[in-house]
Amino acid sequence: LKRDSKYGQINKEHVKFFQDLLGSESAVINDFSSDATDDIEPFNSDWMRKYRGHTKLVLKPGSTEEVSKILKYCNDNMLAVVPQGGNTGLVGGSVPVFDEIVVNLQRMNNIRSFDEVSGILVADAGVILEVADNYLAENNHIFPLDLGAKGSCQIGGNIATNAGGLRLLRYGSLHGSVLGIEAVLPDGTIMDDLSKLRKNNTGYDIKQLFIGGEGTIGIVTGISILCPQRSPAMNVAYFGLESYEKCQEAFREAKNQLSEILSAFELMDGRSQKLINKATGKKMPLESEYPFYCLIETSGSNTDHDNEKLQTFLEHVMEASIVSDGVLAQDQTQIQELWSCRESISECLGHWGGVYKYDLSLPISSMYDLVNDVRNRLTEAGLVGDDELHPVVDVVGYGHMGDANLHLNIPTRRYDKEVEKQLEPFVYEWVKGKNGSISAEHGLGIAKKPFIRYSRSETMIKLMKQIKDLYDPNGIMNPYKYI
Ligand code: FAD
Ligand code: MLT
Ligand code: ZN
Repeated sequence: LKRDSKYGQINKEHVKFFQDLLGSESAVINDFSSDATDDIEPFNSDWMRKYRGHTKLVLKPGSTEEVSKILKYCNDNMLAVVPQGGNTGLVGGSVPVFDEIVVNLQRMNNIRSFDEVSGILVADAGVILEVADNYLAENNHIFPLDLGAKGSCQIGGNIATNAGGLRLLRYGSLHGSVLGIEAVLPDGTIMDDLSKLRKNNTGYDIKQLFIGGEGTIGIVTGISILCPQRSPAMNVAYFGLESYEKCQEAFREAKNQLSEILSAFELMDGRSQKLINKATGKKMPLESEYPFYCLIETSGSNTDHDNEKLQTFLEHVMEASIVSDGVLAQDQTQIQELWSCRESISECLGHWGGVYKYDLSLPISSMYDLVNDVRNRLTEAGLVGDDELHPVVDVVGYGHMGDANLHLNIPTRRYDKEVEKQLEPFVYEWVKGKNGSISAEHGLGIAKKPFIRYSRSETMIKLMKQIKDLYDPNGIMNPYKYI
């Protein structure tokens, strides 16, 4: 990949323009002053420390108008831009590839309004997900999305990646819950589509293009989103199971018996749980070890009703030997403790050095077969082992079972060409063979861009390119990525 020479180079005159525009010193970080390199570094590298860019300039606008002026200037001067939220994305989309200007939304962090009757929240894109959810908790509501990175990721970043997360099974995709978007187009046009309407069939629903658009057609500056009532009763259970077939039976029973109160059904294999223990020393919730674990969350409006349902469910899955052992959280601390067995997997897998991450949609019945196939393949190639001689630590699978979304992860001691050769295109071909998706919820970024054809036809790619060219004719937005 080479830097495209059509883009201008940042010079001191540009920096001066942005300093005058944004006023405050802290809103413009540039690499022209000798001691700024350390300040700029966090904006140049991603959460996994796998992708690293070389921007010389980070801009932190404080308003939609400022974003508009920034983009207009960049468009007029052919300066490439990377929109950046909390920089927790997992496909290298939020960091520059070369010297693109980083436009970070962290200063745009106001809740604009909340209506308790409708449950509609309007907020700046730079609000951190957990901050939004805490605000909603005070108002008896919940953000319809939750994920392990909630303490750092921004709601604008969530929308730009169309994040799925831990409760999609209950609250659905952001394509349904986001009611309106305010965004700035590359030429500086402010697209005010911050509707608070649940229904609005008046023409194309253009905001949907920004949901999952990964910053390629504009910068999201504000969102309006429908938030459900917070459930007063919440229960979390963690089960050990003897096989993947049993996990599927447990899921079927959970849907059957818990139906409207089921708010999450997550899968973790035994190996992922072992690695949490190895990386952190954390004691796992169950005494014995199992090849599979499931985490079930219920939330409903009536504690007695929920407890009764859950009790019946638990008795059934134990008596029918669908689950072998389990624990039900008794208080808020235990709820968090059990959730951390699922949420901390991503972070723990990075403990040995690198991780090859695959985020896949597959038919639920054959989802885990891929993990076994990949493990066998890497083992046969002599790449998996407990010592430094072997690059691969293990091959693990976990994910959002309720959404048929598997996270196949290969934690390694180092990034290794031989491992890569065994994994790709093998994984992508396997997924294509099942008509799955090579990116279920993390997006394309730079990591998955070369593989889009495994999940999209030429016609669909052509239509996507037309949209990109229409909105961003100069191609200044997040170049080298997506399509
Ligand atoms: P960034 O990483 O900063 O950006 C992501 C992409 O969006 C980039 O392409 C960027 O250019 C673009 N972007 C960011 N902000 C804007 C904006 N305002 N306007 C336009 N474009 C923008 N994802 C899931 O789907 N489900 C999960 O369960 C999940 N769990 C995670 C757990 C952990 C521990 C981590 C580290 C990540 C996880 N993710 C998950 C990945 C997920 O994509 C991000 O966490 C989140 O949605 C990205 O938000 P962000 O603010 O960090 O965006
Ligand atoms: C998760 O579900 O934990 C996230 O999508 C992050 C990951 O895939 O590791
Ligand atoms: Zn996930």
